[in-house]
Amino acid sequence: MQKIILTGYMGSGKTVIGSALAQKLQLPHLDLDAVIESSQQMPIAEIFAKKGEIFFRKIEHQTLSELVNSADPFVLSLGGGTPCYANNDKMLRLPNVVSVYLKASIETLAKRLQNETQKRPLLASDEAAGLHEFIAKHLFDRSYYYNQALYTINVDGKTIDAIVSEICQLA
Ligand code: S3P
Repeated sequence: MQKIILTGYMGSGKTVIGSALAQKLQLPHLDLDAVIESSQQMPIAEIFAKKGEIFFRKIEHQTLSELVNSADPFVLSLGGGTPCYANNDKMLRLPNVVSVYLKASIETLAKRLQNETQKRPLLASDEAAGLHEFIAKHLFDRSYYYNQALYTINVDGKTIDAIVSEICQLA
């Protein structure tokens, strides 16, 4: 049973593309953050604030393991940090998984994220004062994990439809 997993930095379009792709392939769409919010009955920002990032990363790992080990096919949009913790990147290469890294440039990400820092706890910190620089460093640290995906698609300047079509040609 096929499982398609989308990974990439915050703002790369994982949720929007995942939803459109699932609709086209007539598969259920799951968003890992949304699954966690529903199981914890709390928005992600509140989980970070009240329980801390380590707790979030544990739940994130458990939730992802359960989903990839289930029998059901789906399109799953990961959180931006998911493959970078707890060996989650290994799950991008399981035999029943088609994983895709939605690769966006620092410029694209900074433009998309500039008004969204409140929703995303990691961008709300003081460190994020220089958003462009923060993303550049963070992406450098994380690229290794995103690159564990089977496929990479450059998303800069492309429409949702164009990206979905590219993924359909892979999966
Ligand atoms: C995170 C990205 C967020 C969410 C959490 C941590 C990260 O998901 O999982 O705030 O570490 O990059 P999005 O990429 O959907 O914003």
